[in-house]
Amino acid sequence: MVDQKKVGVLGCTGSVGQRFILLLSQHPYFKLHAVGASSRSAGKKYKDATRWKQSQQLPEEVKDMIVQECKAAAFAECDVVFSGLDADVAGEIEAEFIKNDLVVFSNAKNYRRDPVTPLMVPLVNTNHFDIIPHQRNVKGLNKGFLVTNANCSTTGLVVPLKALQDKFGPLDAVMVTTLQAISGGGYPGVPSMDILDNVVPFIGGEEEKIEWETGKILGAVNADATAFTHVEQTKVSAQCTRVAVMDGHTACVSVKFGGAKPTVEEVKAAMREYSCESQALGCPSAPKMAIKVFEEEDRPQPRLDRDLEGGYAVSVGRVREDPVFDIKFVALSHNTVIGAAGSSILNAEVAVVKGLL
Ligand SMILES: NC(=O)c1ccc[n+]([C@@H]2O[C@H](COP(=O)([O-])OP(=O)(O)OC[C@H]3O[C@@H](n4cnc5c(N)ncnc54)[C@H](OP(=O)(O)O)[C@@H]3O)[C@@H](O)[C@H]2O)c1
Repeated sequence: MVDQKKVGVLGCTGSVGQRFILLLSQHPYFKLHAVGASSRSAGKKYKDATRWKQSQQLPEEVKDMIVQECKAAAFAECDVVFSGLDADVAGEIEAEFIKNDLVVFSNAKNYRRDPVTPLMVPLVNTNHFDIIPHQRNVKGLNKGFLVTNANCSTTGLVVPLKALQDKFGPLDAVMVTTLQAISGGGYPGVPSMDILDNVVPFIGGEEEKIEWETGKILGAVNADATAFTHVEQTKVSAQCTRVAVMDGHTACVSVKFGGAKPTVEEVKAAMREYSCESQALGCPSAPKMAIKVFEEEDRPQPRLDRDLEGGYAVSVGRVREDPVFDIKFVALSHNTVIGAAGSSILNAEVAVVKGLL
């Protein structure tokens, strides 16, 4: 049994914020206590401030909550603050929350490269929490700390890569082409006249994020838990496209192994058998299977498979030999669940079980 923690959501009206609202409704560890957004929304009831775009109903208990300005004082009673803030404002706002000794789990890119801040995917590297005592020392914090989660496309990629790295050692090279959903750009996102009947072969900053973040996430915490050791061996090349899919990012991936090339069946087995700490700790949102491996030749597909395990699992299919690299496959992940809000929530569940909260 866990005493329910009071939580806040910053950026509560956005694409990620709405997913937080849904995932936190009826959560066994967390109870929504405060919601925040811009001055355009502050002072309004949540139901009037947000344009609700989810297929599930807006939970009753949230409808009349008053949206706050994103100031630490309004969230002082929160044990945890989840941030789905726009990156243009997240840096300054999250810094003020941390300065006030609050715990922040952020989806924004601003502090992912910070040398004492974990960049955490809950199906991969929750051991990076080990750096938190050092982070608190460096930032002069007593109970507060900051954890970021990865770019949504990076998240869907690193889970199968971690399964392969654990089983076969560090990879030499990864080539990935993504087909990303429009909800990944927030609301209203790409204009309909740009995305219908079309593929947009550019998402600003996305390829650089995938190419850099992978090395930090797949890396380790050093022996005295004061720094992250990135995986330098694995070179990543990414091409990102936006496609007319509502939710669910697809990634077509080719990998070259550092050691001997495993067979297709060995690769599938490594992914099927893969398990991670958030599962072992019994966290309520952890999927039973971190990776579902399909045998059907036309799966995974976003509309059919993105909600597998509530959107917390990664689906992999079409595992086969690659004539240029070693092995290729297709991965699918829900960009606002395991790719964003769900990632923060599962990371925070791990923090609860580890006694950090
Ligand atoms: N969408 C995804 O799949 C995804 C995945 C991973 C990470 N992310 C990251 O998560 C963050 C949120 O993305 P999103 O897609 O949810 O964006 P979004 O739909 O555009 O929502 C942005 C949120 O930020 C708030 N905001 C904007 N300016 C503000 C200000 N000056 N002060 C306080 N709040 C302000 C907005 O409130 P108002 O409604 O009041 O304007 C809204 O709640 C971004 O950093 C994004 O890169 C997104």
